[in-house]
Amino acid sequence: MTKGIIVSGGWGTRLRPLTCTIPKSLIPVVNKPVIERQILLLKTAGINEIILAVSVMSNVLKNYFGKGEKLGVNIKYSDEKNPLGTAGAIKLAEDYLKDENFFMLNGDIIINFDFKEMIKAHEKHKGVGLIGSKIITDPSRYGVLIVEKETNKILKFLEKEEYKPSEGKHIPMPINAGVYLLEPEVFQYIKPQKKVSIERNVFPHLARENKLYHYSIPGIWKDIGKPEELLEGNVQLMNDILKNQKSNNENLIGGNLDVEGKVLLKPPVAIGENVIIRKNCQIGPNVIIGDNVYIGAYTEIKDTLIYNEAYLSENVKCEKAIIADNCLLHDGVQLVGNNENLVILSSFVEVLDNVSLIAPPKSSLSVCHHDVVRLDVD
Ligand code: GTP
Repeated sequence: MTKGIIVSGGWGTRLRPLTCTIPKSLIPVVNKPVIERQILLLKTAGINEIILAVSVMSNVLKNYFGKGEKLGVNIKYSDEKNPLGTAGAIKLAEDYLKDENFFMLNGDIIINFDFKEMIKAHEKHKGVGLIGSKIITDPSRYGVLIVEKETNKILKFLEKEEYKPSEGKHIPMPINAGVYLLEPEVFQYIKPQKKVSIERNVFPHLARENKLYHYSIPGIWKDIGKPEELLEGNVQLMNDILKNQKSNNENLIGGNLDVEGKVLLKPPVAIGENVIIRKNCQIGPNVIIGDNVYIGAYTEIKDTLIYNEAYLSENVKCEKAIIADNCLLHDGVQLVGNNENLVILSSFVEVLDNVSLIAPPKSSLSVCHHDVVRLDVD
């Protein structure tokens, strides 16, 4: 039986300060950790043996998933003392994976497709690896695949810095989507106990030997590597869930929602369990609220993610922001980001009365966990 390994031990530096308290793969996407959604997709395809290749904050992941009982799968851990890179990580788990082909997933991507179809494509091509690909209009931020159209063979792997758009203009290209179906033969290409990247050191080599194919993955795809991608990915996934649901609901509303008086929900909005919203609030569009959140009266929120146990007092305004778990925003607080640069509050941040945090045009505005932000008074 095909198994699955999810690499989830990176530092997640680009998502700091969120990843100072939450490992990147446990970051919620529409109120469920990104990696939990991947595990459930594997399970739907009948893949119940799952290895998590962990390193940074490994205990947090182990505590969250245990042996996989709650999800109905069997989870094992391959723990690196220090991150060994994406290839080094799977090499360490070789004993679990050496007998049959296996899925390897980057633990920071949002996907929603049927893995069984990918298995069928792999059986047809018979390569050492089948790389999930996605056509992207501006591929410059990703590893680009040069492919042979007729056969789906990958001729070349171009890393970010090697890709040069023709005459400065981007053309849509297939990129490496971070989803792979691999044969155990791949282990012959990875030196043990060394920091090795599968994208940079292993796949280019296999492509030169004509042993790699690509599979265009259907449905949504988003890498949540950077804060603005995390926000976009959440909104895409929320729209995807709404589109594929049986009912015609415009919003995703969890149990026990307590709304006082008049509240305007502008779709799409997702709300977790046990949320209280007081009168005259405007929520949405593109807002995702976690569990056990309180939102005080006259508050306006759009294009924002709010994690569990957050408390927003009265008259708060949030736009283009990410508010991690257990944050406390007092009366009249304003968080205002822009398209590329968000306002990010890490876990347990407290923002005192009437503070406005406005992201400058060229960088995000981030507050570290447990920090207290107050008005400057001279
Ligand atoms: P940045 O520091 O922001 O680049 O994030 P990252 O460290 O997570 O790196 P990247 O986005 O390239 O990682 C893609 C996926 O591979 C993520 O799910 C990471 O958790 C995972 N990953 C990256 N490096 C390692 C590693 O050395 N060991 C393990 N086990 N996983 C890794």
